[in-house]
Amino acid sequence: MALVSATEMLQKAVEGHYAVGQFNINNLEWTKAILLTAQEVNSPVILGVSEGAGKYMGGYDVVVNMVKGLIKDQNITVPVALHLDHGSYDHCYKCLEAGFSSIMFDGSHYSIEENVEKTTELVKAAHDKGVSIEAEVGSIGGEEDGVVGMGECADPADCKKIADLGVDFLAAGIGNIHGKYPANWKGLQFDVLAAVQEKTGTLPLVLHGGTGIPDDMIKKAITLGVAKINVNTECQLVFAEATRKYIEAGKDLEGKGFDPRKLLAPGYEAIKAKVKEKMELFGSVNKA
Ligand code: 13P
Repeated sequence: MALVSATEMLQKAVEGHYAVGQFNINNLEWTKAILLTAQEVNSPVILGVSEGAGKYMGGYDVVVNMVKGLIKDQNITVPVALHLDHGSYDHCYKCLEAGFSSIMFDGSHYSIEENVEKTTELVKAAHDKGVSIEAEVGSIGGEEDGVVGMGECADPADCKKIADLGVDFLAAGIGNIHGKYPANWKGLQFDVLAAVQEKTGTLPLVLHGGTGIPDDMIKKAITLGVAKINVNTECQLVFAEATRKYIEAGKDLEGKGFDPRKLLAPGYEAIKAKVKEKMELFGSVNKA
């Protein structure tokens, strides 16, 4: 199946009371692990690409062609969206050009007026190409590609303003942060999420910082309109742990254990297991 925009899969998720995972990719192993797992469990999936990861992989054209090649050669038939994660204004245009099927414009650090102006323009540019667009209100805490968000909660009235511009789904800060949660984290602010949902109706909401949020909070967030959940750090952690164990056990020194196809295999399997676990938790299994 060709790449699809994320609009339809997320509208279905809202109606069906489940969420679709956005799993961030870093290289071929990540991408293949996520796509094959989605196919195995018959789940729609969103591949997230941050600007930093896009640069690391060699550029957006490389990413588009790698993903399309895997979909074709691995016979992936579940819906797959290729999504720019936390895009700046310029990079949104670069990804539209390169053939991404979904973009996120992160205007959360602009004034609400400037966020509205830039989002309006990008909604048109994306929709002209049949591409879905996510916007963000209330910056997500933690660090992503060197940008540290303070983790403010979104103003529901601002969410309504941005939702009315025609974005396809909306990320609203509700106390979630990227990366590991600190021990004194207060948890997701469900009162804010409920107020946002009241203003935005059936618009799919996005929960960033999926790593480390307790399962019961994830399930409650889904009941309040969250239809897309972003997971990045958790796959990195399990990949690193599995790779470390392989090296610490001296397996790279046995026979041809240094072959990257062997060295990276435990990390690859760890990502597959983590993605499957998340798809089961989010309820997207058999929803392709
Ligand atoms: P985590 O790295 O905390 O899982 O967050 C991912 C994310 O929100 C990407 O936008």
